[in-house]
Amino acid sequence: MATFAERMNRMAPSGIRKVNEKALAMERAGETVIHFEIGRPDFDTPEYIKKAAIEALQNGDVFYTSNFGKMELRQAIAEKLKRENGLNYKPEEILVTAGLSEAVFAVLATILEEGDELLVPDPVWINYRNVPRFLNAVPVSYELKEENGYQLDVEEIRAKVTDKTRAIVIVTPNNPTGGVLARETLQKLADLVIEKDLLVISDEVYERLIYDGEQHVSIASLPGMKERTFTMNGMSKAYSMTGWRLGYVAAPEDYIAVLNKFHQHNTTCAVSFGQTAAIAALNEEGDEVKEMVKEYQRRRDYAVQAINAIDGLSCLTPKGAFYIFINCKALGLSSADLSDYLLENAKIALVPGSVFGPGGEGYLRMSFANNYDNIVEGCARLKDAAEALKKEACR
Ligand SMILES: Cc1ncc(COP(=O)(O)O)c(C=O)c1O
Repeated sequence: MATFAERMNRMAPSGIRKVNEKALAMERAGETVIHFEIGRPDFDTPEYIKKAAIEALQNGDVFYTSNFGKMELRQAIAEKLKRENGLNYKPEEILVTAGLSEAVFAVLATILEEGDELLVPDPVWINYRNVPRFLNAVPVSYELKEENGYQLDVEEIRAKVTDKTRAIVIVTPNNPTGGVLARETLQKLADLVIEKDLLVISDEVYERLIYDGEQHVSIASLPGMKERTFTMNGMSKAYSMTGWRLGYVAAPEDYIAVLNKFHQHNTTCAVSFGQTAAIAALNEEGDEVKEMVKEYQRRRDYAVQAINAIDGLSCLTPKGAFYIFINCKALGLSSADLSDYLLENAKIALVPGSVFGPGGEGYLRMSFANNYDNIVEGCARLKDAAEALKKEACR
């Protein structure tokens, strides 16, 4: 009989994939589902990046690389962090990982003892709750509230710091809220972090997907923060490279050496020819990312006004990433039941907000990484379904 280590019970299966699997099963049965559940860009990887990978493969770039990542890539990342984020990292302060997901696991495994507390946003991308639990550490939620424009509240965080608190996670732009942390908020947080001697895990994977002239600020660029921050980023979202599995973490060199031990025993190194393509992605970028962002913004603008015109639903305009966090409290169903209802009746797949933490209850996450026509059709289906639900409730 199969038996499993107890630690596996501490990780929940992905609630995002659960919706996706159900949608795929419906499609196999002949239904047409509109997918708003998966957080992956729908664009192909830009041609110049694919070309670099193909050339690398043809040139025999098929072997293990340095476990830290190719030096030329670490150099390109250091230059990017300087150019775009005002950060001064040496290549030796950068570790290339198999996606940011691996970097998250490596960093949390490196810094958390059993019983340590990790401050995590609520709601947030699910790994930040599951990985600490796997490590027998304790994720402690701090709230990101719609009424505060999804900014964090430093005084609430202060009240939650205990002698077991080791670090705080920030995700800006945020998945699932689309909120972008303002410089003043980050400065107040930095003051608290220094006062309480904490570490910061700064997830910046959506940093390039930002709208309306908003500015992304890397917390490590604030005075006194570089030495206590893990700046986490990757190629997945900006360059539409989710399947390439390329991420990185920038941190003081002594941390990088220890993170690399985890990485050596986990994946050894990121994909060799993918790393070569990532060098091209960073060094040879033209307008590709800008064009994708322009299209995301067009879809976002349509969807936000369409949703706010639906009786019973509302949303803030996301400032970054490609998610709209839809307030559905007025429809009177739990977010999980509403997600099921919408999938089964309207054939639109949205993720229940509760998947991202208790603070997500009463919301649905809609990814607008889908084409414009599907967004228009999906919003029309959402409107019809909300009206039908309202009528049922009145009966
Ligand atoms: C906030 C956040 N961080 C990290 C990741 C994972 O990125 P990667 O594809 O680089 O593993 C995701 C993926 O959805 C995410 O939403």
